[in-house]
Amino acid sequence: MAGTCIIGLQWGDEAKGKLVDLLTKDMDVVVRYQGGANAGHTVVVGDAVYKLHHLPSGIINGRVLNIVAAGVVVHPETILREIRSLAERGIDVRGRLLLSDRAHVVMPWHLIEDQLWNLAVSGENNIGTTLRGIGPCYRDKVGRSYAVRVGDLLRSDFPNRIREIVAARLPVLRAMAGSQPVDLDADTIIEEFAAFQKELRPFVVDTTRVLLDLVEQDKRILFEGAQGSLLDIDHGTFPFVTSSNSSGVGISAGSGVAAKWLTKMIGVCKCYSTRVGGGPFPTELLDEIGEQIRTKGREYGTTTGRPRRCGWFDAVAVRYTRRLGGIDRLALMMLDVLSGLPEVKICVAYELDGERIDYFPGSAEALRRVKPIYETMPGWQEELTDARDLDDLPVAALNYIRRIETLVGCRAEFVSVGPDRAQTIICDDVAAVANVT
Ligand code: GDP
Ligand code: IMO
Ligand code: MG
Repeated sequence: MAGTCIIGLQWGDEAKGKLVDLLTKDMDVVVRYQGGANAGHTVVVGDAVYKLHHLPSGIINGRVLNIVAAGVVVHPETILREIRSLAERGIDVRGRLLLSDRAHVVMPWHLIEDQLWNLAVSGENNIGTTLRGIGPCYRDKVGRSYAVRVGDLLRSDFPNRIREIVAARLPVLRAMAGSQPVDLDADTIIEEFAAFQKELRPFVVDTTRVLLDLVEQDKRILFEGAQGSLLDIDHGTFPFVTSSNSSGVGISAGSGVAAKWLTKMIGVCKCYSTRVGGGPFPTELLDEIGEQIRTKGREYGTTTGRPRRCGWFDAVAVRYTRRLGGIDRLALMMLDVLSGLPEVKICVAYELDGERIDYFPGSAEALRRVKPIYETMPGWQEELTDARDLDDLPVAALNYIRRIETLVGCRAEFVSVGPDRAQTIICDDVAAVANVT
């Protein structure tokens, strides 16, 4: 028994943080393996709300080891701020947090570049990034020449490296910025990073080696995906994606743990759809139902505070990401948010250029042109936040999740009816029902 994996099946914010926290009690290790501070994972325990951008969501549970592995892009200031803020709330991460020396660092020039691109591109071509420097940092990782890894921060020749890169990047950024000033000074960065260096040093190790040891020791490892499968750089709605493999395919690359050890894949999705930023979204609701879902689901970005675009559940998209991730079980989140609607809709196919298709198109341009074909089901008026068992759900809500399971082709192991750990139905009938494939 090595790896249980939590993968978002939509465009992020599927409530992965809640599920990771819930499952942490049965784990020895929780691992973040891709993405960076663009993530915003929420954990709610009673009255306490924790918003984690950088640290694995297992950190809230006081026992397990948490690893930020090689594939993550690290923003030192954010990670240290998070560590300090948890300490103020009585959560001490010392001895429970490891940071990969191979992870790449989001440097000040990456943040500036992300900002400049965001300003330069307007309208429907704008990706609407989280402005956390993610794309430029991953680009420099692949490009190699200007990359900075966490291990480099600890080297004595680090100041020279900074001077060298600033000298090379500054003219490019100035050219991009036009008449706007570019605030990038090597000495300031060196000073700032000297402080980070001191604070981060105790956490930095070769996490790849640690993880390989943990696998051999048969430890229970939980892999916490960031973003969602539809934001995957290779298999998502390119170019309106993030810059890492945020579907299941990224786990081995980012952590160093071979695919054969990933024994259980849990796909997390909301009972409707949301998306933040630009890009095609076939089931988007631009009417009062979309507004109702946004208000009731508090659909505002955890990282940027932006209102999330809301829409009906898209079974075509989630069937695709279920297959992409080799998903064994679903976690259906936010079912409570749909209470009060007279009817609920599920997109079961698309119409593309007059033809009905049941696959998710590989190009954003085609996805922009599809029209969703809906199946309509009766809604339910009851509030669901106190439900703790499938039997507590009104028949219409139960039928709705059963229909999603059938269309997606996978049973739900978890149904979530509120943000708190306790507001979760654990479906014990999953093994008994075998007729959904
Ligand atoms: P993540 O990025 O996938 O971890 O998800 P976010 O934390 O960005 O967004 C999910 C939001 O939904 C958070 O505010 C959670 O506290 C909240 N949440 C989680 N599960 C439920 C649920 O079942 N019902 C409701 N109403 N809110 C939920
Ligand atoms: P979690 O882990 C939702 C979106 C951004 C933008 C695109 C690229 O909380 O689910 P980036 O800053 O990564 O270059 O932005 O991806 N995005 C997310 N949307 N949840 C996230 O993370 C996201 N991380 C990035 O809005 O559209
Ligand atoms: Mg989020």
